[in-house]
Amino acid sequence: MTKPFHLAWFLQGSSVQAWGEPWTGRIGETWMQPELFLDMARSLERACFDYILLEDSSYVGESFQGSTEIYLKAGIAVPRQDPSVVAALMTQVTSRIGIVPTFGTFAYPPYLLARLVATLDQVSAGRGGWNAVTGSSDFAAMNFGLPGMPEHDLRYDMADEYMDVVKQLWGSWEPGAIIADRKSGVLIEHSKVHGVHYEGKFFKTRGPLNSGPAPQGQPVIAQAGGSARGRRFAAAHADTIVANAKGPAAMKEYRDDVRAQMRLVGRDPDSCKVLYLVNPILGETEEIARERKQMQLTRALGMIPERLAHLGKVTNIDFGRFDLDQPLPDDVSTNGHQQTLDQFRKRAAGRSIRATMADWNPVDLSVELVGTPDAVAGRMAEVMQEVGGDGFLLSMPNVSRRTLAEIEDGLVPALQDRGLVRKAYEHAQFRDNLLAY
Ligand SMILES: Cc1cc2nc3c(=O)[nH]c(=O)nc-3n(C[C@H](O)[C@H](O)[C@H](O)COP(=O)(O)O)c2cc1C
Repeated sequence: MTKPFHLAWFLQGSSVQAWGEPWTGRIGETWMQPELFLDMARSLERACFDYILLEDSSYVGESFQGSTEIYLKAGIAVPRQDPSVVAALMTQVTSRIGIVPTFGTFAYPPYLLARLVATLDQVSAGRGGWNAVTGSSDFAAMNFGLPGMPEHDLRYDMADEYMDVVKQLWGSWEPGAIIADRKSGVLIEHSKVHGVHYEGKFFKTRGPLNSGPAPQGQPVIAQAGGSARGRRFAAAHADTIVANAKGPAAMKEYRDDVRAQMRLVGRDPDSCKVLYLVNPILGETEEIARERKQMQLTRALGMIPERLAHLGKVTNIDFGRFDLDQPLPDDVSTNGHQQTLDQFRKRAAGRSIRATMADWNPVDLSVELVGTPDAVAGRMAEVMQEVGGDGFLLSMPNVSRRTLAEIEDGLVPALQDRGLVRKAYEHAQFRDNLLAY
Protein backbone atom coordinates (compact mmCIF):
# COMPACT_ATOMS: atom_id res chain seq x y z
CA MET A 1 0.00 0.00 0.00
CA THR A 2 1.23 3.46 -0.86
CA LYS A 3 1.36 5.71 2.19
CA PRO A 4 -0.75 8.87 1.96
CA PHE A 5 0.85 11.93 0.42
CA HIS A 6 0.42 15.70 0.40
CA LEU A 7 -1.02 18.05 -2.21
CA ALA A 8 -0.30 21.72 -2.79
CA TRP A 9 -0.92 24.21 -5.57
CA PHE A 10 1.70 26.30 -7.34
CA LEU A 11 0.01 29.53 -8.35
CA GLN A 12 2.20 31.44 -10.75
CA GLY A 13 1.69 34.81 -9.19
CA SER A 14 -1.42 36.75 -8.50
CA SER A 15 -1.69 37.61 -12.14
CA VAL A 16 -3.36 37.00 -15.46
CA GLN A 17 -1.60 33.69 -15.43
CA ALA A 18 -4.06 31.91 -17.65
CA TRP A 19 -4.38 34.68 -20.23
CA GLY A 20 -5.18 33.14 -23.60
CA GLU A 21 -6.23 29.77 -22.12
CA PRO A 22 -9.75 28.47 -22.70
CA TRP A 23 -12.46 28.77 -20.00
CA THR A 24 -10.89 31.79 -18.35
CA GLY A 25 -13.77 34.18 -18.97
CA ARG A 26 -12.83 37.85 -19.11
CA ILE A 27 -9.64 37.39 -17.11
CA GLY A 28 -7.85 40.04 -19.13
CA GLU A 29 -10.25 42.58 -17.63
CA THR A 30 -11.15 41.08 -14.25
CA TRP A 31 -7.72 40.01 -12.97
CA MET A 32 -7.31 42.96 -10.59
CA GLN A 33 -10.16 41.65 -8.46
CA PRO A 34 -9.09 38.63 -6.43
CA GLU A 35 -12.30 36.58 -6.85
CA LEU A 36 -10.73 33.77 -8.90
CA PHE A 37 -7.93 33.35 -6.38
CA LEU A 38 -10.32 33.43 -3.43
CA ASP A 39 -12.47 30.80 -5.15
CA MET A 40 -9.29 28.81 -5.62
CA ALA A 41 -8.43 29.02 -1.92
CA ARG A 42 -11.94 27.86 -0.95
CA SER A 43 -11.93 25.03 -3.50
CA LEU A 44 -8.50 23.71 -2.54
CA GLU A 45 -9.41 23.87 1.13
CA ARG A 46 -12.50 21.76 0.47
CA ALA A 47 -10.11 19.36 -1.26
CA CYS A 48 -7.91 19.39 1.89
CA PHE A 49 -4.76 20.63 0.15
CA ASP A 50 -1.84 21.41 2.46
CA TYR A 51 -1.10 24.78 0.89
CA ILE A 52 -1.19 27.26 -1.96
CA LEU A 53 2.18 28.70 -2.93
CA LEU A 54 2.05 32.11 -4.61
CA GLU A 55 5.07 32.36 -6.86
CA ASP A 56 6.52 35.82 -7.51
CA SER A 57 9.06 37.93 -9.29
CA SER A 58 9.28 41.68 -8.96
CA TYR A 59 10.11 43.05 -12.39
CA VAL A 60 8.86 43.18 -15.96
CA GLY A 61 10.87 40.81 -18.13
CA GLU A 62 13.22 42.38 -20.63
CA SER A 63 15.52 39.51 -21.55
CA PHE A 64 14.15 38.74 -24.99
CA GLN A 65 15.51 40.90 -27.81
CA GLY A 66 16.38 43.42 -25.11
CA SER A 67 12.73 44.49 -24.90
CA THR A 68 9.71 44.27 -22.63
CA GLU A 69 7.50 43.79 -25.70
CA ILE A 70 6.89 40.03 -25.72
CA TYR A 71 6.43 39.91 -21.94
CA LEU A 72 3.77 42.62 -22.01
CA LYS A 73 2.09 41.47 -25.20
CA ALA A 74 1.74 37.85 -24.06
CA GLY A 75 1.31 38.56 -20.35
CA ILE A 76 4.41 36.58 -19.32
CA ALA A 77 4.64 37.02 -15.55
CA VAL A 78 3.16 40.50 -15.86
CA PRO A 79 1.01 42.06 -14.53
CA ARG A 80 1.31 40.49 -11.11
CA GLN A 81 0.14 41.88 -7.82
CA ASP A 82 2.03 41.95 -4.57
CA PRO A 83 1.58 38.42 -3.19
CA SER A 84 1.30 39.55 0.43
CA VAL A 85 -2.01 41.29 -0.24
CA VAL A 86 -3.64 38.39 -2.07
CA ALA A 87 -2.22 35.93 0.48
CA ALA A 88 -3.80 37.92 3.32
CA LEU A 89 -7.14 37.97 1.51
CA MET A 90 -6.96 34.19 0.98
CA THR A 91 -6.51 33.64 4.72
CA GLN A 92 -9.80 35.44 5.36
CA VAL A 93 -11.94 33.10 3.25
CA THR A 94 -10.40 29.88 4.59
CA SER A 95 -9.65 28.28 7.94
CA ARG A 96 -7.30 25.33 7.41
CA ILE A 97 -5.24 25.57 4.24
CA GLY A 98 -1.67 26.97 4.41
CA ILE A 99 -0.94 30.16 2.47
CA VAL A 100 2.62 30.62 1.22
CA PRO A 101 3.56 33.83 -0.60
CA THR A 102 7.01 34.23 -2.14
CA PHE A 103 9.38 36.96 -0.96
CA GLY A 104 12.94 37.44 -2.18
CA THR A 105 15.66 37.81 0.44
CA PHE A 106 17.28 40.51 -1.72
CA ALA A 107 14.16 42.66 -1.62
CA TYR A 108 13.15 42.82 2.03
CA PRO A 109 15.19 43.86 5.03
CA PRO A 110 15.01 40.83 7.38
CA TYR A 111 13.06 42.76 10.00
CA LEU A 112 10.35 43.75 7.53
CA LEU A 113 10.09 40.19 6.22
CA ALA A 114 9.94 38.63 9.70
CA ARG A 115 7.19 41.06 10.69
CA LEU A 116 5.21 40.58 7.49
CA VAL A 117 5.26 36.78 7.65
CA ALA A 118 4.54 36.75 11.41
CA THR A 119 1.54 38.99 10.74
CA LEU A 120 0.31 36.63 8.02
CA ASP A 121 0.64 33.78 10.51
CA GLN A 122 -1.39 35.77 13.05
CA VAL A 123 -4.24 36.80 10.78
CA SER A 124 -4.52 33.20 9.52
CA ALA A 125 -4.38 31.68 13.03
CA GLY A 126 -1.21 29.70 12.31
CA ARG A 127 -1.43 29.03 8.57
CA GLY A 128 1.22 31.39 7.31
CA GLY A 129 4.21 30.37 5.24
CA TRP A 130 6.99 31.91 3.18
CA ASN A 131 8.55 30.68 -0.04
CA ALA A 132 12.10 31.84 0.57
CA VAL A 133 13.84 32.69 -2.69
CA THR A 134 17.11 34.50 -3.23
CA GLY A 135 15.98 36.17 -6.48
CA SER A 136 17.94 35.75 -9.66
CA SER A 137 17.39 38.70 -11.98
CA ASP A 138 19.57 41.78 -12.34
CA PHE A 139 16.49 43.69 -13.49
CA ALA A 140 14.75 42.82 -10.21
CA ALA A 141 17.85 43.87 -8.26
CA MET A 142 17.91 47.21 -10.09
CA ASN A 143 14.25 47.80 -9.19
CA PHE A 144 15.49 47.85 -5.59
CA GLY A 145 18.43 50.17 -6.19
CA LEU A 146 21.04 47.41 -6.35
CA PRO A 147 23.56 47.29 -9.19
CA GLY A 148 22.69 43.65 -9.95
CA MET A 149 22.34 40.28 -8.25
CA PRO A 150 25.25 38.94 -6.22
CA GLU A 151 26.88 35.81 -7.62
CA HIS A 152 24.74 32.62 -7.46
CA ASP A 153 26.36 30.76 -4.53
CA LEU A 154 27.01 33.99 -2.61
CA ARG A 155 23.25 34.66 -2.76
CA TYR A 156 22.65 31.44 -0.88
CA ASP A 157 25.40 32.30 1.67
CA MET A 158 23.64 35.60 2.25
CA ALA A 159 20.29 33.84 2.47
CA ASP A 160 21.67 31.45 5.12
CA GLU A 161 22.53 34.43 7.27
CA TYR A 162 19.17 36.03 6.46
CA MET A 163 17.38 32.93 7.75
CA ASP A 164 19.39 33.09 10.93
CA VAL A 165 18.26 36.70 11.49
CA VAL A 166 14.57 36.13 10.79
CA LYS A 167 14.53 33.04 13.01
CA GLN A 168 16.03 35.08 15.84
CA LEU A 169 13.41 37.77 15.29
CA TRP A 170 10.58 35.22 15.34
CA GLY A 171 12.15 33.74 18.47
CA SER A 172 12.25 37.11 20.24
CA TRP A 173 8.84 36.41 21.80
CA GLU A 174 8.79 33.45 24.19
CA PRO A 175 5.63 31.35 24.24
CA GLY A 176 3.30 32.66 26.91
CA ALA A 177 4.63 36.24 26.74
CA ILE A 178 1.15 37.63 26.15
CA ILE A 179 -0.74 37.56 29.43
CA ALA A 180 -3.62 39.96 28.73
CA ASP A 181 -4.65 39.86 32.38
CA ARG A 182 -7.25 42.54 32.88
CA LYS A 183 -7.11 42.24 36.67
CA SER A 184 -3.41 43.01 36.99
CA GLY A 185 -3.48 45.25 33.94
CA VAL A 186 -0.53 43.43 32.34
CA LEU A 187 -0.75 42.80 28.64
CA ILE A 188 2.73 41.39 28.00
CA GLU A 189 5.28 39.87 30.38
CA HIS A 190 8.26 42.00 29.38
CA SER A 191 10.88 39.49 30.58
CA LYS A 192 9.65 37.05 27.93
CA VAL A 193 10.34 39.40 25.04
CA HIS A 194 14.01 39.52 24.12
CA GLY A 195 16.22 41.94 22.31
CA VAL A 196 17.96 40.92 19.12
CA HIS A 197 21.29 42.53 18.35
CA TYR A 198 22.38 40.98 15.13
CA GLU A 199 25.54 41.98 13.36
CA GLY A 200 26.51 39.45 10.72
CA LYS A 201 28.59 39.54 7.59
CA PHE A 202 25.71 40.77 5.44
CA PHE A 203 22.89 41.88 7.72
CA LYS A 204 22.53 44.00 10.80
CA THR A 205 19.34 44.39 12.77
CA ARG A 206 17.80 45.08 16.12
CA GLY A 207 14.80 43.47 17.70
CA PRO A 208 12.53 42.32 19.31
CA LEU A 209 9.91 42.10 16.64
CA ASN A 210 7.15 44.59 17.41
CA SER A 211 4.44 42.52 15.70
CA GLY A 212 4.33 40.05 18.55
CA PRO A 213 4.81 36.31 18.07
CA ALA A 214 3.79 34.09 15.18
CA PRO A 215 1.20 31.50 16.32
CA GLN A 216 3.32 28.71 14.81
CA GLY A 217 6.43 30.06 16.50
CA GLN A 218 8.09 29.98 13.13
CA PRO A 219 5.89 30.16 10.04
CA VAL A 220 6.31 27.35 7.49
CA ILE A 221 9.29 27.79 5.18
CA ALA A 222 9.16 26.59 1.58
CA GLN A 223 12.14 26.50 -0.75
CA ALA A 224 13.03 25.43 -4.28
CA GLY A 225 16.78 25.52 -4.86
CA GLY A 226 17.70 23.07 -7.61
CA SER A 227 21.48 23.51 -7.76
CA ALA A 228 23.80 21.74 -5.30
CA ARG A 229 24.10 24.95 -3.25
CA GLY A 230 20.33 25.52 -3.46
CA ARG A 231 19.59 22.03 -2.18
CA ARG A 232 21.98 22.54 0.73
CA PHE A 233 20.14 25.75 1.64
CA ALA A 234 16.75 24.00 1.42
CA ALA A 235 17.99 21.07 3.51
CA ALA A 236 19.05 23.49 6.23
CA HIS A 237 15.86 25.53 6.44
CA ALA A 238 12.83 24.23 4.57
CA ASP A 239 9.69 22.61 5.99
CA THR A 240 8.66 21.86 2.44
CA ILE A 241 10.60 21.79 -0.81
CA VAL A 242 8.98 22.40 -4.17
CA ALA A 243 10.96 20.44 -6.70
CA ASN A 244 11.35 20.33 -10.42
CA ALA A 245 12.72 16.88 -11.29
CA LYS A 246 12.00 14.89 -14.41
CA GLY A 247 10.82 11.31 -13.98
CA PRO A 248 10.60 9.06 -10.92
CA ALA A 249 14.34 8.26 -10.86
CA ALA A 250 15.34 11.97 -10.77
CA MET A 251 12.59 12.68 -8.25
CA LYS A 252 13.89 9.93 -5.98
CA GLU A 253 17.48 11.14 -6.37
CA TYR A 254 16.42 14.68 -5.43
CA ARG A 255 14.54 13.56 -2.34
CA ASP A 256 17.19 11.09 -1.19
CA ASP A 257 19.87 13.78 -1.60
CA VAL A 258 17.93 16.39 0.37
CA ARG A 259 17.15 13.89 3.11
CA ALA A 260 20.81 12.88 3.37
CA GLN A 261 21.80 16.54 3.62
CA MET A 262 19.21 17.11 6.32
CA ARG A 263 20.71 14.30 8.38
CA LEU A 264 24.13 15.91 7.96
CA VAL A 265 22.89 19.13 9.55
CA GLY A 266 21.12 17.24 12.33
CA ARG A 267 17.56 17.54 11.04
CA ASP A 268 14.96 14.78 10.94
CA PRO A 269 14.33 14.20 7.20
CA ASP A 270 10.65 13.55 7.89
CA SER A 271 10.32 17.14 9.07
CA CYS A 272 10.47 18.39 5.45
CA LYS A 273 8.04 17.39 2.71
CA VAL A 274 9.29 17.34 -0.87
CA LEU A 275 6.54 18.03 -3.40
CA TYR A 276 6.97 17.66 -7.16
CA LEU A 277 5.54 19.80 -9.93
CA VAL A 278 2.79 18.08 -11.94
CA ASN A 279 0.09 19.09 -14.37
CA PRO A 280 -2.70 16.48 -14.27
CA ILE A 281 -4.84 16.46 -17.41
CA LEU A 282 -8.18 14.78 -16.79
CA GLY A 283 -11.03 13.54 -18.94
CA GLU A 284 -14.16 11.42 -18.71
CA THR A 285 -12.30 8.85 -20.77
CA GLU A 286 -8.64 8.20 -21.48
CA GLU A 287 -9.24 9.33 -25.05
CA ILE A 288 -10.70 12.70 -24.03
CA ALA A 289 -7.81 13.30 -21.64
CA ARG A 290 -5.25 12.43 -24.36
CA GLU A 291 -6.96 14.82 -26.74
CA ARG A 292 -6.85 17.57 -24.13
CA LYS A 293 -3.18 16.94 -23.52
CA GLN A 294 -2.52 17.13 -27.24
CA MET A 295 -4.25 20.51 -27.38
CA GLN A 296 -2.12 21.83 -24.50
CA LEU A 297 1.03 20.45 -26.08
CA THR A 298 0.32 21.87 -29.53
CA ARG A 299 -0.41 25.27 -28.05
CA ALA A 300 2.73 25.23 -25.89
CA LEU A 301 5.11 23.92 -28.53
CA GLY A 302 3.87 26.58 -30.94
CA MET A 303 4.95 29.35 -28.60
CA ILE A 304 8.72 29.10 -29.00
CA PRO A 305 9.52 32.85 -28.65
CA GLU A 306 7.25 33.12 -25.59
CA ARG A 307 8.86 30.07 -23.99
CA LEU A 308 12.35 31.37 -24.77
CA ALA A 309 11.32 34.67 -23.23
CA HIS A 310 10.31 32.83 -20.08
CA LEU A 311 13.54 30.82 -20.10
CA GLY A 312 15.47 34.05 -20.57
CA LYS A 313 13.64 35.64 -17.68
CA VAL A 314 14.85 33.04 -15.18
CA THR A 315 18.35 32.62 -16.63
CA ASN A 316 18.99 36.28 -17.59
CA ILE A 317 19.95 35.05 -21.06
CA ASP A 318 18.60 36.94 -24.07
CA PHE A 319 17.79 34.02 -26.38
CA GLY A 320 16.37 36.56 -28.82
CA ARG A 321 19.86 37.71 -29.81
CA PHE A 322 20.94 34.26 -31.06
CA ASP A 323 20.21 32.59 -34.37
CA LEU A 324 17.53 30.13 -33.29
CA ASP A 325 18.65 27.70 -35.97
CA GLN A 326 22.08 27.36 -34.38
CA PRO A 327 23.01 25.72 -31.08
CA LEU A 328 23.31 27.93 -27.99
CA PRO A 329 26.99 29.00 -27.89
CA ASP A 330 29.07 27.02 -25.37
CA ASP A 331 30.27 30.09 -23.49
CA VAL A 332 26.76 31.19 -22.44
CA SER A 333 26.39 30.78 -18.69
CA THR A 334 23.93 32.02 -16.08
CA ASN A 335 23.95 33.77 -12.77
CA GLY A 336 20.22 33.00 -12.62
CA HIS A 337 18.55 29.57 -12.35
CA GLN A 338 21.43 27.21 -13.01
CA GLN A 339 19.24 24.12 -12.94
CA THR A 340 17.15 25.48 -15.82
CA LEU A 341 20.15 26.16 -18.07
CA ASP A 342 21.57 22.70 -17.24
CA GLN A 343 18.27 21.15 -18.29
CA PHE A 344 18.31 23.12 -21.55
CA ARG A 345 21.86 21.99 -22.40
CA LYS A 346 21.11 18.35 -21.61
CA ARG A 347 18.09 18.42 -23.89
CA ALA A 348 19.86 20.28 -26.65
CA ALA A 349 22.71 17.77 -26.96
CA GLY A 350 24.25 19.94 -29.67
CA ARG A 351 20.98 20.72 -31.48
CA SER A 352 19.76 24.18 -32.47
CA ILE A 353 17.80 26.32 -30.02
CA ARG A 354 14.65 25.94 -32.12
CA ALA A 355 14.97 22.15 -32.39
CA THR A 356 15.56 21.90 -28.64
CA MET A 357 12.43 23.90 -27.87
CA ALA A 358 10.30 22.20 -30.53
CA ASP A 359 10.24 18.91 -28.65
CA TRP A 360 10.83 20.15 -25.10
CA ASN A 361 7.53 19.15 -23.61
CA PRO A 362 6.52 21.82 -21.08
CA VAL A 363 3.22 20.09 -20.30
CA ASP A 364 4.17 16.94 -18.39
CA LEU A 365 6.49 18.49 -15.76
CA SER A 366 7.75 15.80 -13.32
CA VAL A 367 5.69 12.89 -14.64
CA GLU A 368 2.95 12.55 -17.21
CA LEU A 369 -0.48 12.42 -15.54
CA VAL A 370 -3.13 12.05 -18.20
CA GLY A 371 -6.36 10.05 -18.03
CA THR A 372 -9.52 9.55 -16.03
CA PRO A 373 -9.38 10.73 -12.42
CA ASP A 374 -9.10 7.14 -11.24
CA ALA A 375 -6.30 6.27 -13.66
CA VAL A 376 -4.37 9.42 -12.73
CA ALA A 377 -4.85 8.67 -9.03
CA GLY A 378 -3.42 5.20 -9.65
CA ARG A 379 -0.42 6.61 -11.49
CA MET A 380 0.25 9.13 -8.70
CA ALA A 381 0.26 6.23 -6.23
CA GLU A 382 2.78 4.28 -8.35
CA VAL A 383 5.08 7.29 -8.66
CA MET A 384 5.00 7.97 -4.93
CA GLN A 385 5.72 4.31 -4.24
CA GLU A 386 8.82 4.55 -6.42
CA VAL A 387 10.00 7.93 -5.14
CA GLY A 388 9.27 7.37 -1.44
CA GLY A 389 7.17 10.56 -0.84
CA ASP A 390 6.04 13.19 -0.10
CA GLY A 391 3.48 14.50 -2.56
CA PHE A 392 2.70 16.74 -5.52
CA LEU A 393 2.60 20.42 -6.32
CA LEU A 394 -0.03 21.08 -8.96
CA SER A 395 1.10 23.63 -11.49
CA MET A 396 -1.47 24.00 -14.21
CA PRO A 397 -1.30 26.54 -17.02
CA ASN A 398 -5.08 26.82 -17.35
CA VAL A 399 -6.01 28.25 -13.95
CA SER A 400 -9.79 28.53 -14.14
CA ARG A 401 -12.84 27.54 -12.15
CA ARG A 402 -13.31 24.62 -14.52
CA THR A 403 -9.80 23.32 -13.78
CA LEU A 404 -10.35 23.76 -10.06
CA ALA A 405 -13.60 21.79 -10.21
CA GLU A 406 -11.86 18.97 -12.05
CA ILE A 407 -9.32 18.73 -9.25
CA GLU A 408 -11.70 19.21 -6.32
CA ASP A 409 -14.55 17.08 -7.64
CA GLY A 410 -12.68 14.69 -9.93
CA LEU A 411 -9.12 13.91 -8.98
CA VAL A 412 -9.20 14.44 -5.22
CA PRO A 413 -12.20 12.13 -4.54
CA ALA A 414 -10.45 9.45 -6.63
CA LEU A 415 -7.31 9.87 -4.52
CA GLN A 416 -9.37 9.82 -1.33
CA ASP A 417 -11.13 6.61 -2.41
CA ARG A 418 -7.72 4.98 -2.61
CA GLY A 419 -6.70 6.34 0.80
CA LEU A 420 -3.91 8.40 -0.79
CA VAL A 421 -4.81 11.85 0.55
CA ARG A 422 -6.66 13.12 3.59
CA LYS A 423 -10.45 13.54 3.75
CA ALA A 424 -10.27 16.07 6.59
CA TYR A 425 -7.55 18.22 8.09
CA GLU A 426 -5.97 16.64 11.14
CA HIS A 427 -5.03 19.93 12.83
CA ALA A 428 -5.77 23.64 12.99
CA GLN A 429 -2.28 24.86 12.08
CA PHE A 430 -0.36 24.53 8.84
CA ARG A 431 2.90 22.86 9.96
CA ASP A 432 0.99 20.32 12.08
CA ASN A 433 -0.99 19.27 9.00
CA LEU A 434 2.15 19.13 6.86
CA LEU A 435 3.82 16.85 9.39
CA ALA A 436 0.69 14.84 10.24
CA TYR A 437 1.90 11.99 8.01
C1 LIG B 1 8.41 24.98 -8.01
C2 LIG B 1 9.36 26.14 -8.00
C3 LIG B 1 8.90 27.37 -7.58
C4 LIG B 1 9.73 28.49 -7.58
N1 LIG B 1 9.23 29.70 -7.23
C5 LIG B 1 10.00 30.81 -7.35
C6 LIG B 1 9.46 32.10 -7.11
O1 LIG B 1 8.29 32.26 -6.83
N2 LIG B 1 10.27 33.18 -7.25
C7 LIG B 1 11.59 33.07 -7.59
O2 LIG B 1 12.27 34.07 -7.67
N3 LIG B 1 12.12 31.85 -7.81
C8 LIG B 1 11.36 30.73 -7.72
N4 LIG B 1 11.88 29.50 -7.99
C9 LIG B 1 13.29 29.40 -8.31
C10 LIG B 1 14.11 28.84 -7.17
O3 LIG B 1 14.06 29.67 -6.02
C11 LIG B 1 15.54 28.67 -7.62
O4 LIG B 1 16.14 29.91 -7.90
C12 LIG B 1 15.56 27.83 -8.87
O5 LIG B 1 14.90 26.60 -8.63
C13 LIG B 1 16.96 27.57 -9.35
O6 LIG B 1 17.67 26.98 -8.33
P1 LIG B 1 19.20 27.16 -8.27
O7 LIG B 1 19.45 28.64 -8.32
O8 LIG B 1 19.59 26.54 -6.95
O9 LIG B 1 19.69 26.44 -9.49
C14 LIG B 1 11.06 28.37 -8.01
C15 LIG B 1 11.52 27.11 -8.42
C16 LIG B 1 10.69 26.00 -8.44
C17 LIG B 1 11.22 24.69 -8.91
